Amino acid sequence: MSTLAQEAAIDGLRERLAEARAAGGAVGFVPTMGFLHAGHRSLIERARRENDVVVVSIFVNPLQFNPGEDFDSYPRDLERDLELCADADADIVFAPDRREMYPEPPAATVRLGALADVLCGASRPGHFDGVATVVAKLFSIVGECSAYLGEKDFQQLTIIGRMAADLSLPVRVVDCPTVREPDGLAVSSRNVYLSDAERGQAPVLRRALQAGAVLVQSGETSGAAVEAEMAAVIAAAPLAQLDYTAAVPASTLIAAGPLQGEVRLLAAARFGQARLIDNIGCRAG
Ligand code: PAJ
Repeated sequence: MSTLAQEAAIDGLRERLAEARAAGGAVGFVPTMGFLHAGHRSLIERARRENDVVVVSIFVNPLQFNPGEDFDSYPRDLERDLELCADADADIVFAPDRREMYPEPPAATVRLGALADVLCGASRPGHFDGVATVVAKLFSIVGECSAYLGEKDFQQLTIIGRMAADLSLPVRVVDCPTVREPDGLAVSSRNVYLSDAERGQAPVLRRALQAGAVLVQSGETSGAAVEAEMAAVIAAAPLAQLDYTAAVPASTLIAAGPLQGEVRLLAAARFGQARLIDNIGCRAG
């Protein structure tokens, strides 16, 4: 395919993909909530390199926002998103409206275990169940594919990988590295909420993670000590309100004794209206 097709109907997308598969095409899928940026673009470009057909979904999923969160104000710009998708050589943009995805409030949803209650799940109850529900639905609509997801949302990536495995979904989840601004801030749709002063201080999140990684690599095996070091770095930025810092096993994200092997360092903080998250990997021992 060469020109970008826009599809708003579930059945329409299924028909297009059935044709592509009949012609032997491998499908690459990039689920998003739109307001696309360089991070999303890197996922689309990788999907392009590795597949015959590339589908990008754009849907701001109400199920994953809690009351009082930014569902209504979440930034949206479909025209610009379509341009970016065409420029990155995607084949199909699937942009359903709310009625197409949820004609009625869903009676069947995905309910996750402990992995959804820690880290971001602790301050956003139900968030990851909402993510898992929409992603399971999208995977069911798209069918057999490779799905490209960003490490930027590491807990989400872990949960979706586990869900695909646990439910034997015909989807290969591909982890993609975090794209950053030149000063280290992870690119995010929510960065538009930052004032100039907040934007100036936001890279503290990444610096805190790097300080944590230095500590782990120098032999510190106490997760609590690494978390305290990262929190202290963030506390030095007056506009940052810390949510959490965490130093946990990369595979489970749940603390279990001294740090060893692959460790993930994660942090979340609010800067004014924006709740920002970031994470990096390192090795203990
Ligand atoms: P959204 O925030 O739009 O992100 C879509 C995908 O882009 C996710 O896999 C996310 O990890 C990835 N991404 C975001 N910023 C990135 C960056 N700086 N570098 C690399 N990848 C980045 O995540 C969601 O939407 C939703 O929860 C979704 C999975 C679509 C379900 O509604």
